[in-house]
Amino acid sequence: MSNSIFSTQGKVVLATGATSGIGLGMCKGLAEFGCQQLILIHRPSTSPAEATAELKKISPLGDKLVVSYIQADVAEVNVEDIEEKIVKPALELSVTGKIDVLINNAGVNLRYTAEDFPEDQFQKVLQIDLLFPSKLTRLVGKHMLENNVRGKIIFTLSLISFQGGILSAPYAISKSGLKGFVQALSNEWSSKGINVNGIAPGYIETKLVKSLKEDPVRGRQITERIPIGRWGTPEDFRGPAAFLASSASDYVTGETLLVDGGWMAR
Ligand SMILES: NC(=O)c1ccc[n+]([C@@H]2O[C@H](COP(=O)([O-])OP(=O)(O)OC[C@H]3O[C@@H](n4cnc5c(N)ncnc54)[C@H](OP(=O)(O)O)[C@@H]3O)[C@@H](O)[C@H]2O)c1
Repeated sequence: MSNSIFSTQGKVVLATGATSGIGLGMCKGLAEFGCQQLILIHRPSTSPAEATAELKKISPLGDKLVVSYIQADVAEVNVEDIEEKIVKPALELSVTGKIDVLINNAGVNLRYTAEDFPEDQFQKVLQIDLLFPSKLTRLVGKHMLENNVRGKIIFTLSLISFQGGILSAPYAISKSGLKGFVQALSNEWSSKGINVNGIAPGYIETKLVKSLKEDPVRGRQITERIPIGRWGTPEDFRGPAAFLASSASDYVTGETLLVDGGWMAR
């Protein structure tokens, strides 16, 4: 594995939203290619036990893969507190004292009409999907720059980074904003050894979109429109994440990689 162009050997990964769904799929890709440690930021209400077992199972290191945890509900952490509550603990947990890869994946989508969106819910989506990941990334990027880390930063974006969506105004602000942020950071940091990219999933079978998939009309309409002919699964993100976290993508930065079964090409 160490001589693979996709090797993540020795790397320490910090990830949000990785106890399930797409984030877990991405982390499995990094574990599969040999990363040394994963530090998972998860909600106190969510157990990381099952994810940890899956990560160790797929890793060539097996039980020696280090999986560490920071408990935090990102909706509740003020941006001014992210350094103390997330970044400092992550660096203390890191077996190398560094963070090589940051995966910003945690996200929610609440659905209301724009004009009647409850203000607290609107702000909550912005906090989880935009404000938290942008502050976390600026802090982790600073750490990478100060320690000459050849870093890889990955954001989970969306088709709504390209399109407006329906009943999802704050989600659209966040996901299209982060797509611009990927480009802005890439312009500032790529010459200093940090690649910043996004992955935009299409329709992926996770708990986030369970009700949509199960809707007899919308679910069928969406399936019929996907050129590959099926919804994606979290496993479909192993390869793209390993690519963007490894030297295989050293000349790829500021990009958004669509993993959508061909949806946007149609
Ligand atoms: N599924 C799709 O079709 C699709 C399409 C486009 C983009 N996306 C994006 O993909 C990402 C992952 O979503 P998913 O589909 O894999 O759904 P998911 O299984 O529900 O995963 C969402 C993740 O975000 C975490 N999260 C949500 N709110 C959080 C909070 N307040 N604090 C900490 N963690 C929080 C969840 O943690 P818990 O485990 O604690 O709930 C979970 O790990 C999101 O950014 C989403 O916008 C998904």
